[in-house]
Amino acid sequence: MLGKNAAEIFADGSEIGNALLDAFGQHHGLMQQEFQNAVGERIIASLDFIEEDSEQIGALMVLRDAESVRRIENEIEISHRLAAAGRLVSGVGHEVKNPINAIVVHLEVLRQKLRDIDPDARRHMDVIGSEIQRLDRVVQMLIDFTRPVELRLGDVDLRKLGEDVALLASPEAARQGVIVRREWGTEPLFARIDADLFKQALLNVVLNGVQAMPKGGDLWMSASRIGNEVELTVRDQGAGIAPDIRDKIYNLYFTTKKSGSGIGLAMAFKVVQLMNGSMDFDSIVGTGTSFHIRVPLLGSGREAQTPPPFAAMREIGVQAEIGKK
Ligand SMILES: Nc1ncnc2c1ncn2[C@@H]1O[C@H](COP(=O)(O)OP(=O)(O)O)[C@@H](O)[C@H]1O
Ligand SMILES: [Mg+2]
Repeated sequence: MLGKNAAEIFADGSEIGNALLDAFGQHHGLMQQEFQNAVGERIIASLDFIEEDSEQIGALMVLRDAESVRRIENEIEISHRLAAAGRLVSGVGHEVKNPINAIVVHLEVLRQKLRDIDPDARRHMDVIGSEIQRLDRVVQMLIDFTRPVELRLGDVDLRKLGEDVALLASPEAARQGVIVRREWGTEPLFARIDADLFKQALLNVVLNGVQAMPKGGDLWMSASRIGNEVELTVRDQGAGIAPDIRDKIYNLYFTTKKSGSGIGLAMAFKVVQLMNGSMDFDSIVGTGTSFHIRVPLLGSGREAQTPPPFAAMREIGVQAEIGKK
């Protein structure tokens, strides 16, 4: 741009270009004014005129990419939310577990006692029994989700891991007429991760992509190095994610699918974060969605470490009273 006039540089007719030309023309500055570029990303612009001895010698324009700031803010907010929800949920989960155990044991006693008196009562007992079991599974899942995990870290080439996940996903992809295309490149991309957890997280993202294309299509998986990080991208040609649900998809139990669980992305987010990574997505409704998962490259000095042991969780057994007749 050296040697060019401002009028040439900003003559593209964009919102920001027009505003800047206007400001130049009328010789008024801009203070941290916000604009959107053509693809909807936020840019903050400032313009100051510089004078010396009341003679104008130049202008200083600062353009700031507010998009990356917004993304980071978003991620921090999500992890705060997940952490807060996690604390609450694990507390409640443990509290609920005890009465459930007590109910199960007492139900069994009651079943025995009623057996001879009223055979028909068994039917009701069975229903109560199976419903309690269901409740127990839900609670257990919550506890598992929020339990501090012990990372089994290893140095893994993410291209290899990606290929494993592609194979894991291929039966479901084939069933829906989705072709999983891969682009791993030739450069090894090592990161220090828990391979099992990471595979599960990536698989969740890939399966979402497959499920977003009920009529088939192409799903692209790729890995590349970006600075000090490895980035895995999963791109689908599905329906896209509507703007009004974009800040909800990482929430535990948020789903728009008839038989969805809403666990996949919450789990993926948590796992990636445990490995000092981050994830985000961009989506165009009607065109498709790309998810990006980034983790520190091995040797970058930001690798995950096994966290210090958490305070042992209280595992409270069945209450003593149950043993009594
Ligand atoms: N690739 C995608 N394309 C469109 N929507 C998606 C995609 N990935 C996730 N979503 C949305 O995010 C929601 C939550 O995803 P997830 O946590 O995996 O739960 P589930 O798959 O059980 O619904 C999905 O129900 C869907 O609405
Ligand atoms: Mg899912």
